[in-house]
Amino acid sequence: MRIGDPIIELSLKRFRLLRDLINSFCGIYFSDDSLFLVESRLTERLLFLGLDSFDDYYHYLRYNPKGETELEEMVDLLTTNETYFYREEYQLRAFTADILPELHRRLESRRRLMVWSAGCATGEEAYTVAMMIKDTGLFDDWDVRIFGCDISRQVLTHARRGIYGPSAFRCTRPELQARHFTKTPQGYKVKDSIRAMCHFGHLNLLDEERIVLVGHVDVIFCRNVMIYFDKKSKSHLISLFYDRLRDGGFLLLGHTESLINLSTAFELVHLSEDLVYRRPEVPHGP
Ligand SMILES: C[S@@+](CC[C@H](N)C(=O)[O-])C[C@H]1O[C@@H](n2cnc3c(N)ncnc32)[C@H](O)[C@@H]1O
Repeated sequence: MRIGDPIIELSLKRFRLLRDLINSFCGIYFSDDSLFLVESRLTERLLFLGLDSFDDYYHYLRYNPKGETELEEMVDLLTTNETYFYREEYQLRAFTADILPELHRRLESRRRLMVWSAGCATGEEAYTVAMMIKDTGLFDDWDVRIFGCDISRQVLTHARRGIYGPSAFRCTRPELQARHFTKTPQGYKVKDSIRAMCHFGHLNLLDEERIVLVGHVDVIFCRNVMIYFDKKSKSHLISLFYDRLRDGGFLLLGHTESLINLSTAFELVHLSEDLVYRRPEVPHGP
């Protein structure tokens, strides 16, 4: 929206209906304070669809055959996709120093490592994980797969393309950028050896039927995704993550996030530089 563009008015009553629809679809929750943000971000979409009221838009979302696709479009316009390479580096250091060596020991006989970047946005998190795994040199002849998923199709297109501008590198040391990227006229492109380790797919994390298609994984990164969810959706997602993790698998959340009041199923592990969650190992018999 630009200054001077028309605004279609969103009443509090209609806002709350829209908010509940978004919440049950994908977990994101908007408090009443977000009314004007939602109004301004969606006005252009209504104009594009030829609708002149939020009543009509709500009706379209609920009853039009294209309503589900439109829900995705709407969520795309309302979500925050902010991300960058090597975000929250102290946690990544713990991943390299503690988690990867432990997984290397534990999975030696299987020689297969699966990591899931849940809510990967434009892919920087998934690629960072791949770069860190590669740089340990521990998994060179292993089958390593990093799966990045997001509810937004637009960010996934960017992730698959793997080309980034300067803001994606705000926390990347120059030698790492030189090692893992090739300069192109469009920006810095992730090298093929790293791209080959990463796969991206469209997934709503609250879609219970489709989430099982991820299979079982050894590590889940879900950082800065649930901060936008309400408590019920967070608890639900945590229980889905529990089911997807192998015994002893790790769950890494953003630095402002925790499982306090959400789940007691995980154990808290104190690593050299961070606290992370782990699905307990199955206790062995006597
Ligand atoms: C702020 S970004 C975080 C990116 C990255 N994990 C990081 O920490 O840098 C949050 C991402 O979560 C995605 N997201 C939000 N709700 C989702 C859901 N229900 N299913 C899948 N992705 C979701 C958004 O589309 C957005 O791209």
